[in-house]
Amino acid sequence: MSQSSIRNFSIIAHIDHGKTTLTDRLLQLTHTIEARDFSERMMDSNPIEKERGITIKLAPVRMLYQDYILNLIDTPGHVDFGYEVSRSLAACEGALLVVDATQGIQAQTLSNYEKATALGLKVIPVINKIDLPSSDVETVTLDLMEMLGIDESDMIAVSAKTGLNIPELLEKIVEKIPAPAGSPDRPLRALVFTSQYDQHKGVIAYVRVVDGVLKKEQLRLIVSGKQFLPVEIGVFSPEMVAVEELHAGEVGYIATGMKEVQHVKVGDTITQHRNDNVAPLAGYKEPKPMVYMDFYPIDGDDYPLLLDAMGKLTLHDAALQYTPTHSAALGNGLRVGFLGILHNEIVRERLEREFNLELISTSPSVSYRVTLSNGEDQEMNTPADFPDPSQLKTIYEPFTITTIFTPKEYYGNVMTLCEDYRGALLGVQEVGARMQMRYELPLAELIINFHDRLKSVSSGFASMEYELSEYKAVDAVKLDVVIQQEHIEALSQIVVRDKAEMIGRKLVKKLKEVVPKQSFEVPIQATIGGKIVARETIKAFRKDVTAGMYAGDITRRKKLLEKQKKGKKRMKEIGKVTLNQEAFLAVLER
Ligand code: GTP
Repeated sequence: MSQSSIRNFSIIAHIDHGKTTLTDRLLQLTHTIEARDFSERMMDSNPIEKERGITIKLAPVRMLYQDYILNLIDTPGHVDFGYEVSRSLAACEGALLVVDATQGIQAQTLSNYEKATALGLKVIPVINKIDLPSSDVETVTLDLMEMLGIDESDMIAVSAKTGLNIPELLEKIVEKIPAPAGSPDRPLRALVFTSQYDQHKGVIAYVRVVDGVLKKEQLRLIVSGKQFLPVEIGVFSPEMVAVEELHAGEVGYIATGMKEVQHVKVGDTITQHRNDNVAPLAGYKEPKPMVYMDFYPIDGDDYPLLLDAMGKLTLHDAALQYTPTHSAALGNGLRVGFLGILHNEIVRERLEREFNLELISTSPSVSYRVTLSNGEDQEMNTPADFPDPSQLKTIYEPFTITTIFTPKEYYGNVMTLCEDYRGALLGVQEVGARMQMRYELPLAELIINFHDRLKSVSSGFASMEYELSEYKAVDAVKLDVVIQQEHIEALSQIVVRDKAEMIGRKLVKKLKEVVPKQSFEVPIQATIGGKIVARETIKAFRKDVTAGMYAGDITRRKKLLEKQKKGKKRMKEIGKVTLNQEAFLAVLER
């Protein structure tokens, strides 16, 4: 089929607005997957993604519809993966913007729309769930016209669940989304929009051929500089099917045979090895972790297992980075860099579930930039790295532009919350019965339970989305925690000077609640530059009156203790006291 009969598009949506359901319906209607194969397909997805109702990686799929090839390129459903979303969109000419007719435009709808239009895509708004009695197509239509300036004739109202108007949607895709524009006569340029690791075929690059013809010949990644001879080239129909060539405009995969996913980065351009003056496609960005956290195995002997597990996870995840670290209190561990909080949670869960590791994780920290008194600039990914205050000149922290949608009645609550998190209001807009608010918020604040708090102050109705903006100077200090005369480095945090004492007081109170009682009094202090700013004491627990009765059978007692110790999840002995995971997460509560 010719280039003019190809349509490349993505489906973008806010969480739960129906992206998966709509995808399934399109696959069914085009007979790409028959109904009986669906349950199998669903079972294939990663259980953690499924539980959380989010998609991180999903293969693109090629559908045949009348005389057209429709390539649907899925996008990850979470803000941490914003760059992957933008590269997936860059591989398309159009996007279906799914909006739930009972919910209206949400934060993610807007940010996805902005990303798509910035890349010049044709956007078709799909108002979904019109089978529900509570759907309000009229209001959503007006909101889309007013907020996004979209022409009503471009929109379509459907039910992904019942299939209502899905044939009309297919028509619209063919009619409204332009065919790819690249030229088969130019030198090869293929955009890598995601990659996977396969044990047999090595790293598989998912590509959109922008110009030229892709064949099994010596190829090169322009940014990474790596060259390779493809093991296989193919398309997703939806299972991988090998082909001889992929032409300009087509979407498919290249099994590179390479072993390291780090060499095949999202956003890189593949060309023929012999073309040494082909310019890479615009928009390449090095994946950069923004949130750091340390992992320490509860059982120190598990450290090699942790190393091995991280090695395996990074095979599939080019954005994940780690370096060994050591803490006087917690022993050997790894400092791991993530794209964001969700990325972090998923990795932690996988380590525990798939690799059976019991870990203590420190509270997350953003990546700071500091200027030292001697004029030197440094990046610091954890409060433990911060030098003595006398050696510090300026601390810079990353900021975000955060967009929030909320029903009007929660507007005041949301505003108070954002102010509490050091937000600066950039603008407010009325959208029907709701408000759209834009804030400049420090990333360090966002990662402290902001999303949970936003949901709780808005009875679950507000939605948010953020984008990193710039680094700005902040007047901050390092707040340390001393428990039983022991400085617990892993509990240190960077806080703004104005609030340091207040945060210190709250933190020691919280620690008093969560640190397990010991047989002696345990003083807990919050200090800044060695000066105590808050203090609490955990009383000793009462002597166990039954203890003496069993003292005779020491071996049995020891065995029992051993057993209990295993059951006692996530406890770590530090000096004379035992700390649990809650203590390390106390920092997250404000
Ligand atoms: P994520 O990818 O996980 O962000 O969500 P999603 O956008 O893929 O949403 P999904 O397709 O999982 O749908 C969310 C919920 O809405 C599910 O319970 C669906 O069954 C339901 N749903 C989707 N489309 C429709 C529809 O047209 N009508 C009704 N009544 N329910 C729908």
